[in-house]
Amino acid sequence: MKRNMLLLGLLVFALVLTGCRHREKPAAVSLAEEDPSAVAAKPENPAEEEPEAPQLPTMETSLDDYPLNTPTDDILVLVNKTHPVTRDYVADDLVTVVHCDPNVGNKDTKKMRKVAADAIEELIAGAKEDGYDIVMRTGYRSYDYQDYLFNSYAANYGEAEANTYSARPGQSEHQTGWCCDVGVLGVALTDFDYRPEAVWIADNCWKYGFILRYPADKTDITGYIYESWHIRYVGKDVAQYIYENGLTLEEYLGILD
Ligand code: DAL
Ligand code: ZN
Repeated sequence: MKRNMLLLGLLVFALVLTGCRHREKPAAVSLAEEDPSAVAAKPENPAEEEPEAPQLPTMETSLDDYPLNTPTDDILVLVNKTHPVTRDYVADDLVTVVHCDPNVGNKDTKKMRKVAADAIEELIAGAKEDGYDIVMRTGYRSYDYQDYLFNSYAANYGEAEANTYSARPGQSEHQTGWCCDVGVLGVALTDFDYRPEAVWIADNCWKYGFILRYPADKTDITGYIYESWHIRYVGKDVAQYIYENGLTLEEYLGILD
């Protein structure tokens, strides 16, 4: 009996370990935002720790490939690698989110568009009721700030790698103010998806009008690796539809070019 219990314990432990190693952690993501000097602190050989390298998206675009647009005020505006926005675009109703991580970004990145900011406060309160302490890490990013982030990653890890997890300036929906990265105070962004808070976000964010914007199984469509922390406000009805049908925003809008 005792021996069976021991074997069962070992089996559960092995399963937990296997589950935790399902994908390589993009160690570089967000380091520049937390501390610019930390970009150089990438582990020497992460492959040694995580032998099974995931399929990375290879969608390459240059800023010359697609025309820059000024987004409309539409909640469903699409900004991605093939639908970039102008350098000077700033939404006119950005407000500061109260429940932010004070150690990330700057005063502008603590903002979102008013409707999305109200929704993220509701989401954070809902998570709290369920026992999870979630904070908003980064909302709005200006074109120039995105430029700084992308170039920091590209300088340290190469452009191709940076392109799998960081948008080029103009290509980030953070510039619209409709999305944000969420996290847990004191926890690195790239450790988020190994936590129960990430499961809560995946299961519940639609109830507050958000979608998981970069799902693990849609990297060929979004052009980015899985981001458990990046959620986009689309309104409650659309979020529910997208969640129930397992879509990306591109698929929902039927814009796949
Ligand atoms: N990490 C997302 C793709 C961005 O940089 O906007
Ligand atoms: Zn993001």
